[in-house]
Amino acid sequence: FNVTWDADAAEKEGYEHFMIKEIHEQPKGISETLMRRLDKEDNIVLDGIKLTNEDLENINKIYIVACGTAYHAGLVGRFAIEKFAKIPVEVDVASEFRYRDPFIDEKTLFIAVSQSGETLDTLAALREAKRKGARILSIVNVVGSSVARESHDVFYTWAGPEIAVASTKAYTTQLTAFYMLALHMATIKGNMDREQYLQILKELKTMPEKAQSLLKDFAEIQHQAAGHFNNESVFFMGRGVDVHVAHEASLKLKEISYINSFAIAAGELKHGTIALIEKGTLVVALATQDRLYDKMLSNIQEVRARGAYVVAVAKEGNKEIEKTADVVLYIPDTMDELSPILSIIPLQLFAYYVAVARGTDVDKPKNLAKSVTVE
Ligand code: G6P
Repeated sequence: FNVTWDADAAEKEGYEHFMIKEIHEQPKGISETLMRRLDKEDNIVLDGIKLTNEDLENINKIYIVACGTAYHAGLVGRFAIEKFAKIPVEVDVASEFRYRDPFIDEKTLFIAVSQSGETLDTLAALREAKRKGARILSIVNVVGSSVARESHDVFYTWAGPEIAVASTKAYTTQLTAFYMLALHMATIKGNMDREQYLQILKELKTMPEKAQSLLKDFAEIQHQAAGHFNNESVFFMGRGVDVHVAHEASLKLKEISYINSFAIAAGELKHGTIALIEKGTLVVALATQDRLYDKMLSNIQEVRARGAYVVAVAKEGNKEIEKTADVVLYIPDTMDELSPILSIIPLQLFAYYVAVARGTDVDKPKNLAKSVTVE
């Protein structure tokens, strides 16, 4: 059922860096992760996962625990599970979770998320949760890794080997896994009817193709990267699930370009960050959520009024935003809930081209490791 692969044998296949190669592999990774767990009737099959429907019915609380990019995927996971399955979820970074004595009982499901399956903090948090009686399900990319071996159940992502330190395809496949789990749990909990389920699944199945369409033309992103690679700081903001993408996009930029970047919930602007906005400050504003669009637009206006240069990420067809933002990077139209799979892609590319322009070691940024196996 699972692939095994030899990381050392992985090649760049003509790409300049592993990171850009892996960005391009996302449509395939998303598709594989999805299709391998769908049967002909479009039911999600949790083959090899022992967690029964009855077990799931009894779960009344979920902890999602991870580090780095996997943690950011977990934040989107919480959004999807709470929205679709209506089970309360907490998300923690593993290094905090393991020391905060969280309340866990046999009705707790613990979801560890890890590309490598070897991150020490994640593994230690998992062991702690297991000791306290939680059911352990992990979302892992590397088959047979420590996290996979120590979990009761594993939902493998099918990203294939990820070599670049900055995680890209692991993230979008982790998101795919979370959407599938959320849909599955929603059905079992009786919180979603078949029609709704099929509608969301149908949209999820368009993600590989829509992601592919984002990998065709980078001219505008390269142009923006060329204009901003000397920035000292960059702010990312969004509302709703866009905030989580803002955090991931900010991490991508800082880890490979060494630019001081950070992300905020746009509603928090006026509680501090707006004090830092001045003429020419680059603000990347995610505005993909229809439900929160008007509020986001006024946040964009607020930073523009203070001189910020705004790069917005919005859904195709939204011409109005061009009047407010300096530049708009479009993603294909989709449901608000699923947009993170798409909206991260132009921002991964932006981080990549900024780093290339700065001449950093893109695949092996300084001080960072692909897998952190020490505390
Ligand atoms: C390191 C890597 C990140 C990764 C994080 C968690 O910091 O540089 O890319 O997101 O570890 O790794 P994991 O393998 O547990 O997902």
